[in-house]
Amino acid sequence: MPQRPILLGVNVDHVATIRQSRKTSYPDPVAAAAICELAGADQITIHLREDRRHIQERDLQILRRTVQTRLNLEMAATADMVKIAYEVKPDTVTLVPERREELTTEGGLDLVGQRDQVRKVVKTLRDAEIAVSAFVDPEVEQVRAAHRMDVPRVELHTGRYCDARLEKDRARELARIVDAAKAAQKLGLGVAAGHGLDYENVVPVAAIAEIEELNVGHSIVARAIFVGLDRAVRDLKALMAEARR
Ligand code: PXP
Repeated sequence: MPQRPILLGVNVDHVATIRQSRKTSYPDPVAAAAICELAGADQITIHLREDRRHIQERDLQILRRTVQTRLNLEMAATADMVKIAYEVKPDTVTLVPERREELTTEGGLDLVGQRDQVRKVVKTLRDAEIAVSAFVDPEVEQVRAAHRMDVPRVELHTGRYCDARLEKDRARELARIVDAAKAAQKLGLGVAAGHGLDYENVVPVAAIAEIEELNVGHSIVARAIFVGLDRAVRDLKALMAEARR
């Protein structure tokens, strides 16, 4: 039986990082999103952080009106962010943990540890007809906790797999992602994955049949500096498609 295609969400935060480093009006993540979509991106992903270090509310507002595919908003499960999501209505909200001093989202959301706040947020967003996903470490316990909390979808954190240098460590981390993805699908949850994926490490993850979507940012924007954004998106999509053959 042919495998289902795997979707690519492109995270355009880094385009905004360059803009914010000089407080100019360019490069614009809105323009980047349009180019990504023309190159075959299935979703645009942005993280509106509490410290607004890259994506601004202006970007979110405009992208909501211009994105032709799906808009996935990564955000912390705070009252302020829920208010913004409720007003703007992205297609999906991915709940992520956030710490001010981190360079990027370091770990998954601990659903086993902080149930009530997240449960409330999930209900509010689902009532507003926003699809909800939770970014969790690839652990069966976290997947089960998501299911118990009525979170319909998980995004599995691939950072440890991507950081592993030894083959045996990488194989172990990949096996954790496979187990978590299978557990999620068995429970009827949607499954995405992301963080740290690049042109060298994406294929084994894209080959996991239970995973429906990958969200990738840093490696695409980094490659775009040399080959252009259109080509960078197309190259990654081609690797993902090849993995599903
Ligand atoms: N998915 C989530 C939930 C993230 O927080 C990030 C980083 O913003 C990504 C995917 C993309 O990670 P990377 O930039 O390493 O590809």
